[in-house]
Amino acid sequence: MAVELTNINEKAEFQESLRKKSMSGEDPIVLLARSGLSMPSHVAIIPDGNGRWAKKNGLPILEGHNKGAKVLENLLDDLENIPDIKLITLWALSVDNLVKRSEIEVSNIMSLAESMIDRLLPSIKARGNKFLHIGDVTKLPKSLQEKLINAQDETSQNKGKTIRIGINYQGFQEDVALVNAAIEQFSTFGRRPSSRADIEDLKRISQTPHADFVIRTSGEQRFSGFGAIAEQAEFYAPSTLLPDMTSLDWALALSEYGFRDMRFGGRK
Ligand code: FPP
Repeated sequence: MAVELTNINEKAEFQESLRKKSMSGEDPIVLLARSGLSMPSHVAIIPDGNGRWAKKNGLPILEGHNKGAKVLENLLDDLENIPDIKLITLWALSVDNLVKRSEIEVSNIMSLAESMIDRLLPSIKARGNKFLHIGDVTKLPKSLQEKLINAQDETSQNKGKTIRIGINYQGFQEDVALVNAAIEQFSTFGRRPSSRADIEDLKRISQTPHADFVIRTSGEQRFSGFGAIAEQAEFYAPSTLLPDMTSLDWALALSEYGFRDMRFGGRK
């Protein structure tokens, strides 16, 4: 109990000092990176709250998405300053979003995704980072498909961070990839998966890495079809809507991970 209370106090003190220093002009992300707090190697973001932000500000939904996209672009700039973060997954649009939102909203998001990639690609390349699209590309407009494939091709040899953007992505697609990898293993080697190691192996083959930390903005405390990626992750849901997220908010959210007491089923 005493240990937990110390941890809570330390977290409160750390976060308070982050707020104060940030208000006096210091960069909260740089402060976080220098703090020695452990950072997730793979952080996954479920961006949420664009619609509510637009409504709150009396603006069309597209303005919420525009502002949300800008916030994600700034986040990628910020995360460049945290060396321990090697893999970033941004879940921009789910399979459900694509089929359940109006044609006009979806088409606006598709255009936004194209301009976002145009803006991001130069910095991804300059930083030696790698871009990956996850999800079903075949249902996306041809022009967007081309941009996604081109961004992947142009950065495929890079060794820096990997930035994955999910558009028309949902967790079940990873289950499908894993099942298909299992079928292929069976037809090639006659082997059926029977252990955790086998499943981990299939996940490696089907390129479905676990996230260490999932952040969902806007306070919603659910995964909404984020699948196996989240099964071993810590989760944090700041109440701030995506378009209002600042560098300080991301730094505070990431600091939550650094204060978690992870035991992975064991004891300390
Ligand atoms: C979340 O807010 C936004 C989406 C599910 C879709 C669009 C995502 C972005 C614009 C981020 C930028 C990324 C790309 C690649 C374009 P919501 O509209 O679900 O918010 P609400 O729950 O408040 O209505």
